Amino acid sequence: MLSEKQEALVKESWELLKQDIPLHSFRLFTSILEKAPGAKDLFSFLRDTDEIPQNNPKLRAHAAKVFRLTCESVVQLREKGGVLIGDATLKWLGSVHLQNGVLAPHFEMVKEALLKTIEEGVGEKWSEEMENAWGEAYDHLAAAIIGEMQAEA
Ligand code: HEM
Repeated sequence: MLSEKQEALVKESWELLKQDIPLHSFRLFTSILEKAPGAKDLFSFLRDTDEIPQNNPKLRAHAAKVFRLTCESVVQLREKGGVLIGDATLKWLGSVHLQNGVLAPHFEMVKEALLKTIEEGVGEKWSEEMENAWGEAYDHLAAAIIGEMQAEA
């Protein structure tokens, strides 16, 4: 269970990251591809390029969604004890990932990449408490998306 302090830590770090979405999106994808080079071709905007584009709106949109929905999942975990993004959104997220060939283990490496990106982004504000809060919220969100993928497969 997340504490009020952890919720505050996540919100505070998201406020910082939000100030430079292009930079943190680029770092997130750099880190994802370091961990799982094979994941590159899953993404339409990376398929025909050898380099991670610096300013691609789709790349930015994906990264920003991962940050934002994880952050919202912290709030929902604190206030309602679970991930409660709308059923329709969750079903949609399940199908998008299923259709694009994403597998459950991909979620674990995106989690590692996400935590590393936040650590780099917040610098000395980083702490174990902050890491656990982002990690726990991401796990809940990822489990909900994977559940939808499995229900549809
Ligand atoms: C697409 C969110 C994790 C790969 C999308 C879209 C959203 C999204 C909202 C739809 C983009 C759009 O059409 O507007 C999330 C969230 C995640 C997550 C919130 C984690 C909590 C992952 C993981 C992978 C992945 C782990 C695999 C490495 C993809 C791919 C697409 C996609 C390949 C299609 C993008 C394209 O080619 O245009 N994701 N995603 N996502 N996601 Fe994720």
